[in-house]
Amino acid sequence: MTNKSLKNKKIIISAGASGIGLATTKICLDRGAIVYLCDINKKFLNKLKKHPLNNKRLFIYECDASNEYEVLNFFDHIKKKTKKIDALVNNVGVAGPTLTMEKINSDDWERTIKINVTSHFYFTKLAIPMLKKNKGGSIINLSSGAGIMGFPLRSPYAASKWAVIGMTKTLAMELGKFKIRVNAICPGTIKGDRMIRVIRDKANFLNISKKKVEKEFVSMASMNCWIYEDDIGKTCCFLISQDGERISGQTIAVDGNAIRLD
Ligand SMILES: NC(=O)c1ccc[n+]([C@@H]2O[C@H](COP(=O)([O-])OP(=O)(O)OC[C@H]3O[C@@H](n4cnc5c(N)ncnc54)[C@H](O)[C@@H]3O)[C@@H](O)[C@H]2O)c1
Repeated sequence: MTNKSLKNKKIIISAGASGIGLATTKICLDRGAIVYLCDINKKFLNKLKKHPLNNKRLFIYECDASNEYEVLNFFDHIKKKTKKIDALVNNVGVAGPTLTMEKINSDDWERTIKINVTSHFYFTKLAIPMLKKNKGGSIINLSSGAGIMGFPLRSPYAASKWAVIGMTKTLAMELGKFKIRVNAICPGTIKGDRMIRVIRDKANFLNISKKKVEKEFVSMASMNCWIYEDDIGKTCCFLISQDGERISGQTIAVDGNAIRLD
């Protein structure tokens, strides 16, 4: 077994049925882990039910991560299978509106904060006793480049992702003595469905072509590249594995060295 192995490690992933969450799930399964994932999207969940490891090492549940009752229910299901876990990946997060602040309505603001921050609180609160029973483990919070820089037209998103960093640093201090490590990953611009939507919204708002917006997004990284969902999945696996056993309280950017977000 190498230090990168996740053999029999029990991992909870929120919003794991597509995007970064799904890429992370697949890499964790490839490395031997047992994954309990939830998602709100029935179509994505049904597709995932056809995965060869479903009900063997992959357990899938429908749950709105921003609804505390549903998260409690999700954990009740998990607790019927295991009392301890090795890791929690707080992946859920929505892009929120692409508008200047004076045009954002309060419902959109609150929804973005609720899904991107409060959901992480619901999951983390329930995961901590299971990580303590395990005598240690890893919590990974998905922040963003917008959690370390300002992000024009995306103020609720940026506010939520800075909050995730604050939560990460504080939890790492609270949980260090229990050998529970807490880190945040800040992905750059991921080539995937979400960025297609973000590019469309920004092009509409600024009345410019999608191609121009796309080029601008890529040029924000000094490596002038897209980031891929697997890049984030592999970083999660590294942090969960023995190789990451003394890393905590860190904000890890996987972004090709993003130098601005505008
Ligand atoms: N994609 C990017 O470019 C990017 C960049 C930086 C940070 N991030 C962060 O990474 C994380 C994952 O991003 P992504 O692009 O894979 O997301 P995404 O928008 O592709 O959504 C992934 C999944 O989240 C699920 N979901 C949405 N709301 C939910 C809810 N309330 N409860 C349960 N599931 C829900 C969706 O059904 C979907 O399957 C997020 O926290 C995001 O903010 C993404």
